[in-house]
Amino acid sequence: MALLDILVYPDPRLRRLADNVVDFNDELQLFVANMAETMYFAPGIGLAATQVNDPRRIICVDVSPEGNDLGVYINPEIIEKDGSQTYEEGCLSIPGVFAEVERFEHIKIRAQDTTGNSFDKEAHGLLAVCIQHEIDHLDGKVFVDYLSRLKQDRVRKRMIKEHGMEAIHYDEKAVAESSL
Ligand code: NI
Repeated sequence: MALLDILVYPDPRLRRLADNVVDFNDELQLFVANMAETMYFAPGIGLAATQVNDPRRIICVDVSPEGNDLGVYINPEIIEKDGSQTYEEGCLSIPGVFAEVERFEHIKIRAQDTTGNSFDKEAHGLLAVCIQHEIDHLDGKVFVDYLSRLKQDRVRKRMIKEHGMEAIHYDEKAVAESSL
């Protein structure tokens, strides 16, 4: 498996509208495994394929404290939604920035697994937040889009200053050496 580079806001590739997955093959399985590995390594509780510069509708989430409850949702669609909640969100593509965003408290989604089987999933609370956040990525949206223009400008300038629009590259070798 391999760690994938994560695009950093305001990289224009984060604005791409993702396409439905049609081929449920070995390459997809490997890609999803790499996505999950990258999410856990970062570490994060959610990752959308858009963030690793892949144009397919795929998200990974794991909001469990132990990091042992991976959810993979391919071609996810929200088919029910109600209530509201506000949570302080962050994003692997906008490191160090956190802000409150209002989302639905409960959602029901319909998605496919890596073999193409369709299933429904109910989500409340943080899991619902996370799934809505990741589906936004597939639609070219990021959580700072919900903030005021002034705050968005500040975040954009900060990210360009700190990251220069370079994608985040996780160097597995360097990490392995530093942990010796
Ligand atoms: Ni995100």
